[in-house]
Amino acid sequence: MKIFLDTANVEQVAEIASWGILDGVTTNPSLVAKEGKDGSTSSPQAFKETILRMCELVPCVSAQVTTTTADEMITQGEEYASWHKHVVVKVPMTVEGLKALKHFSSKGIKTNVTLVFSVEQAVLAAKNGATIVSPFVGRLDDKGIDGMKVVDEILQAFANYGLLTEVLVASVRNVEHVHKSLMLGAHIATMPYSVALELPKHELTDAGLAKFMDDWEKVAPMHR
Ligand code: E4P
Repeated sequence: MKIFLDTANVEQVAEIASWGILDGVTTNPSLVAKEGKDGSTSSPQAFKETILRMCELVPCVSAQVTTTTADEMITQGEEYASWHKHVVVKVPMTVEGLKALKHFSSKGIKTNVTLVFSVEQAVLAAKNGATIVSPFVGRLDDKGIDGMKVVDEILQAFANYGLLTEVLVASVRNVEHVHKSLMLGAHIATMPYSVALELPKHELTDAGLAKFMDDWEKVAPMHR
């Protein structure tokens, strides 16, 4: 499974990329606004620079359109795609988004269809050639709907019909979401920096290492 970071913070991307395990980044307007209240990442030029810096660190960076009509999404998305070959144009799961998606697919522009909450939506996006669909598990859980069950259904439907679109588990809130994504065979999980930091940890690893270091200290003088 590919591991993506869900952030508009380049330093966070650089840190996790330095581990060697990071496959991509997802951004959205809320994440960009959070990082750039002072305009440092949210002005058009700063946003482009942020995306380009991320593209130097990982091979797949989702940049979301902020327009609502298909024509506007196409103009904005084509500009994003011209910035760098690692850019993936993120479009919302709306009728207008579907129209724009069809256009991007015909041009070979990579896409990530966002705000997916049902298997039906995911299949429509896949039929129009989406590279990636993003079901939002955390937001489904918040509504009392099992988000990971929706991911399971999407994977099943794509297998039923041989649809090649990748399923990206989005709106991840905890390590359990990552664990379940792995068990279901999701293609990608995108997660906040705080969740990524938890992935390498296990209390038995810490305890085991402490014991190894302690035992080694007892014989260390012989090796000096
Ligand atoms: C990623 O592509 C999504 O925009 C993101 O995971 C949404 O997460 P949230 O539901 O925590 O805002």
